[in-house]
Amino acid sequence: MKVQVIYSSLSGQTKKVAQAIFDAIVADDKRLHDLKDGEPTLDGDILLLGYWVDKGGPNAEMKALLSKIQGKAVGIFCTLGYYADSSHAQKSLCAGIDLVKEQNILLGSYVCNGALSESIIARFRKAGTSGPHSASPENELRWEILQSHPTQAELNLAAERFKERVYLYQKYRENGLAFSSIV
Ligand SMILES: Cc1cc2nc3c(=O)[nH]c(=O)nc-3n(C[C@H](O)[C@H](O)[C@H](O)COP(=O)(O)O)c2cc1C
Repeated sequence: MKVQVIYSSLSGQTKKVAQAIFDAIVADDKRLHDLKDGEPTLDGDILLLGYWVDKGGPNAEMKALLSKIQGKAVGIFCTLGYYADSSHAQKSLCAGIDLVKEQNILLGSYVCNGALSESIIARFRKAGTSGPHSASPENELRWEILQSHPTQAELNLAAERFKERVYLYQKYRENGLAFSSIV
């Protein structure tokens, strides 16, 4: 069974999650693809797809890819610059899931924090101290906390989640069992 881990990462945080997942999964054939190098041929049985959150959903390149995927077993993961247990994080993950769930089997999903890049923080600081993305004391504290994310614990959990789901899907297939999407 072939597994493709495909990710889009502007400043490297989602790439770390993708790499951790890729390193952990066990498959006859596994490949890691960065969307910066273009869209790969989608010839895997399992596609694990990761994006950075832009305006509450998948970034444009990954959104375009997700919209095209059909008939695969897929996993979705993302990183974002707001609390991972917030409704914004859940909605941002669901925005990706919604693009694939009708036409594919969903093996699972994962969302965690990713540090905001220095350039976007600089842009927010220039914008002043009022407004949702401003350099308010509250936002400064969040940006500070986010700097160390994804943490090793988050990388481990992402790796564990998809290692188990890939194993599970392979076992279901070997045993002629029907996998119901985990949404
Ligand atoms: C242009 C831009 C838009 C963003 N929009 C959001 C957003 O809507 N919600 C959010 O929580 N984080 C947002 N972020 C933060 C990134 O999703 C977050 O830092 C992510 O971990 C970056 O991943 P990467 O390093 O793989 O690019 C945005 C970042 C940028 C640069």
